[in-house]
Amino acid sequence: MRKSSLFPSLVLLGSLSLTAACSSGVPASPGSEPGDGPAGSSPANGGHTVDPARIRGLEIVTDSSEHGACRYAASYPAVPGAERMTSAMQKDVEQRVDTFRTGSCEGDAAAEGSAELNISYEFLAASGDVLGVRLTTRDGSAAGSGLSNSTYWYDGEDQAARTALDLVDEASQDDFVSALKEKLKSREGVDAASLDGILDDPANRTAVVDDMVFTADGGLTATFDRGEVGVPAADQYVVTFPKTAVAPWLSDFGKRVQRQTGRPSGGLDLGATHEPEPSVPVETASEDDTTDCAQVTCIALTFDDGPAAPETATLLTYLARYKARATFFTVGQNVAAHPELVRAESDAGHEIGNHSWNHPDLTGLTPDEVRSQLERTSTAIEAATGKAPTLFRPPYGAVNDTVKAATTLSPVLWDVDTEDWKHRDAAKVARTVIDKAKPNDVVLMHDIHPTSVAAVPEILRTLTERGFHFVTVSRLRAAL
Ligand code: NI
Repeated sequence: MRKSSLFPSLVLLGSLSLTAACSSGVPASPGSEPGDGPAGSSPANGGHTVDPARIRGLEIVTDSSEHGACRYAASYPAVPGAERMTSAMQKDVEQRVDTFRTGSCEGDAAAEGSAELNISYEFLAASGDVLGVRLTTRDGSAAGSGLSNSTYWYDGEDQAARTALDLVDEASQDDFVSALKEKLKSREGVDAASLDGILDDPANRTAVVDDMVFTADGGLTATFDRGEVGVPAADQYVVTFPKTAVAPWLSDFGKRVQRQTGRPSGGLDLGATHEPEPSVPVETASEDDTTDCAQVTCIALTFDDGPAAPETATLLTYLARYKARATFFTVGQNVAAHPELVRAESDAGHEIGNHSWNHPDLTGLTPDEVRSQLERTSTAIEAATGKAPTLFRPPYGAVNDTVKAATTLSPVLWDVDTEDWKHRDAAKVARTVIDKAKPNDVVLMHDIHPTSVAAVPEILRTLTERGFHFVTVSRLRAAL
């Protein structure tokens, strides 16, 4: 699933497309209260943050749908040098997405349209020779809360993927697990006798103790998903050991992670032999768009879920060739990872809209969670472009009065749905738009898919011949 330099737009046609992006300013959250909001929206960790925009060559692998009957969005980072860790995340994510799509997107299950899968990431450490990522999964088709966390670690010194338990020295793991059991057994909902069965088996232990991070002051926090060590009704358990307690247990790798979490050394060096240079188009709008859609035939192309490298950059060059304007509904965690691409979009005269932080169905969230999703994203957009967005597109087109009341942003849905996320077929995407386009339509596409970007030149060429002018959503609305 890695990109090939020979066929940049033809690879990645599998279930996941490699896109660039990531979350900047996404604080690592070892000490956060679990389950207190949409994934990726609850910063913590004593103010320490990892800025993914500073990770050279970072790409985000994103897969998502935009359909009410099959709601899923999954992303994880691919960091040059840490391919073994990327593979571990890829395996886990693809398995979850495949299982979800089979169970919830096909046949009768799809018609019900109730379940949603969301997998988001945050960096826990990315400096020196250590990299740490937590994936948070919310699976509405799973039993219980469907919330689970896993942490993935990479050791640049040994060029090896590490598990959470690898933070602890092998010789100390029994002592560590005994201390864990001691802390857990007094918790409500935990059966002390069954803890032995769960944590004494080494294979089971690795699967259960799979979410550990250091706090900014050197302590170690282990989080257990609902139902893993206690009754499901008891929700998650969080156990934290202070620095002094964990000191004798840590592996050499654990000590380095502890150091880089508390006092990051700055640069990240995993010994990567190749780091792709991001290409950022430098087109700038020569003037404000004065197209009057009351006088000429207009259409608004919209691109969701990005930015993504290199797809977004390629798209910008196509749009510039036809002097076409478009609207990008960006996902906050991707804006944070690639602010330079969002700035390039804005500089070229395109409009930037808000598509939430990590693509949840907003109608399933509380008003505070909706606000957090949108405000955090607007802040990232404004930081990148100097302009706050005025439009938002709700993921899956799902919007209700609660969502509308939680924001001053104006919702934008669409007239033409290319279903490009499903087909991944450039010719089909182009044909759909060309066949369905009517004056003043808003067209839905996704710039995370190379196939969608590849469809754009044909769309621009054919519709230009038919007299269409490509404008932003706000320009279109100004005339309606
Ligand atoms: Ni979307």
